[in-house]
Amino acid sequence: MSEDAANVVPFPSPEPRAEDRPVLVIDFGGQYSQLIARRVREARVYSELVSHRIGPDEVRARNPLALVLSGGPASVYADGAPGLDTRVLELGIPTLGICYGMQLMALELGGAVESNDVSEYGKTELSADACSLFAELPIDQVVWMSHRDSVTAPPTGATVTASSPSTPIAAFEDAERGRYGVQFHPEVVHTPHGQRMIENFLFDIAGAPPAWTPAAVIEEQVERIRAQVGSEQVICGLSGGVDSAVAALLVYKAVGDQLTCVFVDHGLLRENEAEQVVETFGGHFHVPLVHVDARDRFLTRLAGVTDPELKRTIIGEEFIRVFEEEAARLGDVRFLVQGTLYSDVIESGGEDGVAAKIKSHHNVGGLPADMRMELVEPLRLLFKDEVRRVGEQLGLPERMVWRHPFPGPGLAIRIIGEVTEERLALLREADSVLLDEVRKAGLYRELWQCFAVLPAIRSVGVQGDERSYAYPIVIRAVTSEDAMTADWARIPYELLETISSRIINEVRGVNRVALDLSSKPPATIEWE
Ligand code: XMP
Repeated sequence: MSEDAANVVPFPSPEPRAEDRPVLVIDFGGQYSQLIARRVREARVYSELVSHRIGPDEVRARNPLALVLSGGPASVYADGAPGLDTRVLELGIPTLGICYGMQLMALELGGAVESNDVSEYGKTELSADACSLFAELPIDQVVWMSHRDSVTAPPTGATVTASSPSTPIAAFEDAERGRYGVQFHPEVVHTPHGQRMIENFLFDIAGAPPAWTPAAVIEEQVERIRAQVGSEQVICGLSGGVDSAVAALLVYKAVGDQLTCVFVDHGLLRENEAEQVVETFGGHFHVPLVHVDARDRFLTRLAGVTDPELKRTIIGEEFIRVFEEEAARLGDVRFLVQGTLYSDVIESGGEDGVAAKIKSHHNVGGLPADMRMELVEPLRLLFKDEVRRVGEQLGLPERMVWRHPFPGPGLAIRIIGEVTEERLALLREADSVLLDEVRKAGLYRELWQCFAVLPAIRSVGVQGDERSYAYPIVIRAVTSEDAMTADWARIPYELLETISSRIINEVRGVNRVALDLSSKPPATIEWE
């Protein structure tokens, strides 16, 4: 939001609506901190991840409905273990401490924590009282534990509400002061009733309304965009991916024809993707669209280039150049839309323990920092799966909403060696057969990415009565949560057989199909 918009205080200042107040997830560096924020949002309550350095004034200013204290890798007694200003816990805001967060509450609020010799890790039988956190859940249930220290005395005024064989204090509550703690992880799937506990805490204990829906997100973002942009002009680059598409549609909904979308067709997209962008935005949504056919420009600059890094640099630079030319043609444009996601925003806090998620080479295809335009970032608060749901709600075609991630330099980094028109056409055709079969088999959404790679080698084959000397196609299919790690997908043999014979029969210039069986790390998802 621009400074001006942020400073507009409506008068008389209205009572904040419960649905506008966040749940703050205080991050102690646990591996599941982001997951907690997502689980709260899955309960349709807006949540944000904040650093454990947050002070009582800032918490009060945010006016949260509830606090959730995350887990963390350290012992509460370790040197430099992340702490929390005790005054935050004394604001009277309903608080749920998870694992480390629970131990910290015990430590800060008159209870006790002791180090164990053995750690407890994995599925555990929990026996719980019929209290508000466990309302309507079985007395005995399985939960996921991962800890070494244990709470040995609950905070003053709290009672123990659950235990496991090796953890006598597996949960506590002080309903009067709104303090709750669980030693296990309700946010992970290995705690089958975990989501229900989170909902019990949010709905029944904190009184949070389940109002954060895609429709509400759209309404809120549209309002914000209008307040920020006013009557100025906005420009948005479309890549064909879901993020820029949803960002553009939100801005279009907010300010209509003040938005111009620019689609730079660098000729490195997959089969039909360029047409789909033009058809969807220009044809269907009637968004003012500048379609730049820059295919020749990119191919000319890539001629003779085989080094992967050089390919990436050239494409990145050329993209910026074309985009700047188009922006200049539009005249006085003050705002630039960017599809930054919440996972990009959560800073790489090092000390704060929040993992860094941005890889520099993933910014290829981004826009220059010195473009002297103000940024409009309507997805800043959304996780990827939420962007998809908003996209569905806005009527974006299924293909775009669920499209696999695709690198900015496109097919150029899936062609080993020189990128030529012929090799692009060959790869595009093989890739299209692959995706067609994967879709038909109903596997597309289960895979993180699935694509064809064209290596720079040829091998001997026999086609008809003739000897061939042609390229192989490598199939790369992976499963992943976040692209930081990935495993090769176990595609059924029958499907591989169909894909292989179709590619060899239908794509001229290919006489072999190979399958990539590497995980990341040590391999990467892309080949270049
Ligand atoms: P790697 O190959 O590093 O890729 O395992 C991880 C994820 O990032 C995507 N990727 C890119 N995205 N510009 C992008 O916008 C790029 O230059 C780029 N390189 C890789 C890749 O598709 C995968 O999802």
